[in-house]
Amino acid sequence: MNANTTQSVAGELAGRHIVLGLSGGAACFKAAEFCRLLIKAGATVQVVMTEAACQFITPVAMQALSGRPVYVSQWDARPDNNMAHINLSREADAIVVAPASADFIAQLAQGRAGELLALLCLARPIESVPLLLAPAMNREMWAHPATQRNLAQVAQDGAFVLGVAHGDQACGEFGDGRMLEAAGLLEELIAFLAPKPLLGQSVLVTAGPTFEAIDPVRGITNLSSGKMGFAIARAAREAGAEVTLIAGPVHLPTPRGVQRVDVDSARRMHAAAVERAQDADIFIATAAVADWRPANAAEHKIKKDGSGEVPALAFVENPDILAEVAHSPRAQAGELYCVGFAAESQDLLANAQAKRARKGVPLLVGNIGPATFGKDDNALLLVDDEGATELPHASKRVLAQQLVQEIARRVSGLDA
Ligand code: C5P
Repeated sequence: MNANTTQSVAGELAGRHIVLGLSGGAACFKAAEFCRLLIKAGATVQVVMTEAACQFITPVAMQALSGRPVYVSQWDARPDNNMAHINLSREADAIVVAPASADFIAQLAQGRAGELLALLCLARPIESVPLLLAPAMNREMWAHPATQRNLAQVAQDGAFVLGVAHGDQACGEFGDGRMLEAAGLLEELIAFLAPKPLLGQSVLVTAGPTFEAIDPVRGITNLSSGKMGFAIARAAREAGAEVTLIAGPVHLPTPRGVQRVDVDSARRMHAAAVERAQDADIFIATAAVADWRPANAAEHKIKKDGSGEVPALAFVENPDILAEVAHSPRAQAGELYCVGFAAESQDLLANAQAKRARKGVPLLVGNIGPATFGKDDNALLLVDDEGATELPHASKRVLAQQLVQEIARRVSGLDA
């Protein structure tokens, strides 16, 4: 499981009831892990399996993981009214079919209802119970025009089709068609269910440290982990935005659905940010950009020659990405909303207010740098025209979601 998902698990789906459908395929083993993650995230899970799925994993295993008896047959006599397809579909906040086989998708495309799972998908109230499909199949089956036609049809009929992964397949071949991993499925479901106040907005985020080369093997960097910026990118995507994340050198997984641009130096981050800011509606600068870089990076490794002489490093100032973007004509015209961060070690409010003025941004987010670098939690102070708002101590995941809501309110003009 990736770091972002680890941060998100506890309670994120509390109060949600998910019908987890399994159709036949080797990826059924991932559905078992997905079920476990759903439960861990606080959801209640009702598993429904096709006959084919029961060839790959037993209902007993899925019952043990979900804590509820599994449904397979539409003739199951347990429901008092004998209408499992109606009862199960109406209770659900979402139906997720993982794996969704080629045959199952074909059944949906035709509106067929020969088995309980297809029947309840057809019987679901289409406006209030979303259907998510996680396809899983061999690459040739995936690429076949019939499958692609069926996928387009089910999407047009209101299903939300998740992507597939590229890689080794159970059949021994290699290509597109693998089902997403359990953690990826969870991330997609959480994103799907999140409110969408940034729908239609394009958000640009910078994150992490920069690396300023001294020579080909040495450089200057800082302790920024990038976690806050990555969490913000994820939260903005969940809120419906198209997100580009410009990342300095960090080892964090890319949030799903986010376009990532990796850079090293401040100058490269600057070039990437200035270019992409032209198409953005919101710019959130969380990166800890080096203020200075060595004036002349050596082409070859600087050698210790035994003389005891130490190299003299001279520095030049790096471009201030945020200040430059915030002073661009689009930002000045109100077409690009800029948010800055300030990592301070004391006097948070005064320093954040001063930085807000200096950078020329409508919203400046202050935090205590040494207390947060590398950590999974933080506390934020939002400083804008209206004054200061505290986002008290919480995980970076939660703070990122709250900050994105705050930004969305300000951008939509609904802010008090
Ligand atoms: O000036 P200082 O580094 O304290 O400002 C922090 C804010 O400015 C952060 O939002 C950071 O991402 C941004 N910044 C920048 N380019 C720099 C320095 C800081 O975008 N060269």
